[in-house]
Amino acid sequence: MEIKKVGVLGCGLMGSGIAQVAATAGFETVVREVAEEPLAKGFSAIENSLAKFVEKGTLTAEQREEIRKRLRGTTSLEELSDCDIVIEAIIENLELKCDTFRHLDSICKPETIFASNTSSLSITEMMTATSPERQRRFIGLHFFNPVPIMKLVEVVRTILTDDDVYEQAVRFAERLGKIPVRTSDRTGFIVNRLLVPYLLDAIRALEEGVGSIVDIDTAMRLGCGHPMGPLTLCDFVGLDTTYYIAEIMFNEFREKRFAPPPLLKRMVKAGLHGRKSGRGFYDYT
Ligand code: CAA
Repeated sequence: MEIKKVGVLGCGLMGSGIAQVAATAGFETVVREVAEEPLAKGFSAIENSLAKFVEKGTLTAEQREEIRKRLRGTTSLEELSDCDIVIEAIIENLELKCDTFRHLDSICKPETIFASNTSSLSITEMMTATSPERQRRFIGLHFFNPVPIMKLVEVVRTILTDDDVYEQAVRFAERLGKIPVRTSDRTGFIVNRLLVPYLLDAIRALEEGVGSIVDIDTAMRLGCGHPMGPLTLCDFVGLDTTYYIAEIMFNEFREKRFAPPPLLKRMVKAGLHGRKSGRGFYDYT
C-alpha cells in the first residue's frame, strides 16, 4: 500500500505542524479537532508559518495555494476512516488516546497505519486498545517543535510492529522531508532520554546558584553551540510539559536524573508555564 492520504488527530502546536508538513509534501491531508475554535486556531498557526516560508522565498504563492487545497479541517473522526496513515497528536492523556484509537480502529480500513506523536507515553499501551491485526500496524512518529522547521522524526517500533509497516513509516518520514531515526518503545525514546535530564539539571544548577538564568543559557548557547539555552528551551517546550514528561520518565525508570526539581514543580503550580502562558524563566508579556 502506498501512503496517499494522511489523517492528523489534533490541530494544536504539534498537530497543526504535522498537518502542514504532510500537505506541503504533497499528501492529501485531513486534520481533526474536537471543536471549530481550536481548529481555526491551528489553521491560523499554519497560515503564519506558510507566510514565513513565502516571505523567505522557499515557497511560492502558487505552492501555498496548492498546500491549502490539499489540507482540510474537520471535527468528525469519521472523516479519517479512509486515510492510509493516521497520526495522533492530541493531549498527552493515555486514556483519551486509547479511547480515540479504539474508536478509530472500528472505523478505519484494515490497512491504515496508526501512529502516535507522543513524546513519553507508551506506544505499546496505546496499541493494546486496538485489534490484533492493527497492533502490527502501530508505530510512534515523534516530531519536534517547531515541526515545519525541525528536521528530526523518531520512528518508534513496538515488539509487535510489522517489519514492512516500520520500513514504510521510515520512508514516509523521508517523504515528509524529515530525517528519521530508528528507535524502540522505551520511555523518552532517544531525544527525551538525553534532553530531559539535561533540562532538569539546568534548573538544578539555577537552584544551586551556579549561575543566573541568562548566564546558564548564554553558557550553553555560546559554549556548546546550542540554538537555545536550556531554560529558554524549557519555556519554549512549556514548563508544564517538561514537568509532565519528567514525571512519566521518573515513574518509569526511578532514576534521580529524571526527577523534576522542586523549582520546576513550584513554577508549574504557580501557572508559570513558559512562553505560552506569558511567563516562565523569562517574561514574554
Ligand atoms: N514556521 C516557519 N518558519 C519558522 C517557524 C515556523 N513555525 N519557526 C521559526 N521559523 C523560522 C523563522 O522565520 C526564521 O527564519 P529566518 O532564519 O529565515 O529568518 C528561522 O526559523 C529562525 O527563527 P528565529 O529567528 O525566530 O529564531 P531562532 O534562530 O532562535 O530559531 C528555532 C528558532 C528554530 C526554534 C531555534 O531556536 C531552535 O532550533 N531551537 C531549538 C528547538 C528545539 O530544541 N526543539 C525541540 C524541542 S523538544 C520537542 O519538541 C519534543 C518534546 O518531546 C518535548
